[in-house]
Amino acid sequence: MRKFHISTFGCQMNEHDSEIMAGLLLEAGYEMAKSRSEADIVIFNTCSIRENADKRFFGTLGQLKKTKMARKDDFTVCVCGCMPQQKHITDTIKAKYPWVDIVFGTHNIERLPALLANWEKDHSSQIEVLEDREAISEKLPACRLYRHKSYVNITYGCDNFCTYCIVPYTRGREKSRSAQAIIGERKDLVADGVKEVMLLGQNVNSYSSPSGENFADLIREINDIDGLERIRFMTSHPKDLSDDLIKCFLECDKLCKYLHLPVQAGSNGILKRMNRKYTREHYLQLVKKLREAVPDITLSTDIIVGFPGESDEDFKETLDLVNEVGYDSAFTFLYSIRKGTPAEKYKDQIPEDVKHERFDRLVEAVNSSAEKKNAAYVGRVVDVMVDGFSKNNHKALSGRTDGFKLVNFEGDSSLIGQIVKVKIIASNTFSLEGELV
Ligand code: SAH
Ligand code: SF4
Ligand code: F3S
Repeated sequence: MRKFHISTFGCQMNEHDSEIMAGLLLEAGYEMAKSRSEADIVIFNTCSIRENADKRFFGTLGQLKKTKMARKDDFTVCVCGCMPQQKHITDTIKAKYPWVDIVFGTHNIERLPALLANWEKDHSSQIEVLEDREAISEKLPACRLYRHKSYVNITYGCDNFCTYCIVPYTRGREKSRSAQAIIGERKDLVADGVKEVMLLGQNVNSYSSPSGENFADLIREINDIDGLERIRFMTSHPKDLSDDLIKCFLECDKLCKYLHLPVQAGSNGILKRMNRKYTREHYLQLVKKLREAVPDITLSTDIIVGFPGESDEDFKETLDLVNEVGYDSAFTFLYSIRKGTPAEKYKDQIPEDVKHERFDRLVEAVNSSAEKKNAAYVGRVVDVMVDGFSKNNHKALSGRTDGFKLVNFEGDSSLIGQIVKVKIIASNTFSLEGELV
C-alpha cells in the first residue's frame, strides 16, 4: 500500500481541503504516512497570500528533488492549492521543477484520486487547473484533524476584491452551499462525536443559500442541532456584519462569544484604496454595538501595515484604532505585493525599513492590549474545550475558552474532546495558565 503525506500551508480553507483530500485517499485505499520522509506520495497544499508564503513553498519543494531523482517512479510529488491557480506559478513549476508529477488547483480537489491513478498508469505528468468551480461537490469524506471539532465550508471564493488580495483570483467567485447540505453534514458529524463546528468562508456574512437563508438564519438552524456544543465562524467582513447577526450572539447559546473582525487599517483614505467598503467610524460603531449587546465578547483582527500610500498620519490612525478597540489578539502583516492585484500597480509603495518600523510599533500596541485582556482572566473559572496536549509542553493539556483564549493546564488524555472547568492562575500575552477545578 502506498503512503501519502500532506503538508498544508495557509488558512483554514486549505486545512479543510487537506482533511478532505486525506479522506478521499484513505477511501481509495492509500495509507497515511506519519511524516513526509516516510511517504511515497508527497502533497503540498499551498498558500499564496504573501510573498514569503511563495518563497517558503519553493524552498521546501526544492528539497524534494534529490528524493525524486533517487526514487523516480516510486515517488509521487503533487502540488495543489492556491499557488497553481496563478498561471505564472504553474509556468514556473513546469519550467524549473519539471519533476513535479501532479498539479491541480483549489476547484477540483476531489479529482486527486483520479489524477493519481492516471499517473500510476504511465507516470505522465498530470496538470489540471480549473478557472473556477462549476458546481459544489457534496458528500466528500474528510479525515478530521480533531475528533471533536470540524470545519464546514459554507461559502467558497470571494467577490470583494480588496486591492491587495490574491484570494479572489485563487478561489474564484463567491458561492454559497445549500443550508440543507450544511445542516445534514453537521448532523452526521455530531453523530460521529463532533462537538464544535467552525463555519468557513472568506466572508461568511454574505452567505446566501439558494433557498434564501442568510448567515444569521443558518446560525439559528445550526444552533438547534442536538449534541453540538459550540459554533464558531471565520471570517467576518465588517461591511456585511448585520444587526441580525449581533442578535444571534444573544439568542444562540452555542454561538461562541468571539469575533474575528479584520479591520486592515485605521485610516479612511487607506481603507478606500484597499476597497474595503467601510469607514473607520463604521467599524468602531460595530465594535460599540457588539460590546453593548455582549459585554464580554472577545475580539481579534487582521491588520496590514505599509499598504501603498500609507503616511505616518494614516499609520497613527491604525495605532489609535488598536488602542481604542482593545483587541484580545491581532494578526499583523507587512503589506506584500501580489502579482495581478490592483495594488501591485500603485506607484507609492512604502520602503521596507519604514514598513518594519511601523510593524514593530503596531506589534507592541497589539501585545500590550492582549496582555491586559488576558490578565483580567486571572482568578476566573472558565469552560475549556480540551483539544489535546500543549505544543510546547507535552505534559500539559491545552484547549480553548468560548472566547477562543488558549488555556494550558495539567490533566490526562481522557479529558481530550471534553469541556472542563479550569481556574485561571496566570496569564501571558498569547495564552492563559490554569488548573482543573
Ligand atoms: N477573507 C478574509 C481574509 C483572508 S486573508 C478577510 O477578508 O478578512 C487573511 C489576511 O491576510 C487578511 O485579512 C489580510 O490582513 C492579510 N493579507 C491579505 N493579502 C495580503 C497582502 N497582499 N499583504 C499582506 N497581508 C495580506
Ligand atoms: Fe481577500 Fe478581501 Fe476577499 Fe478577504 S474579503 S479574501 S481580504 S479580497
Ligand atoms: Fe492562502 Fe489561499 Fe487561504 S492564498 S490564506 S490558502 S485562500
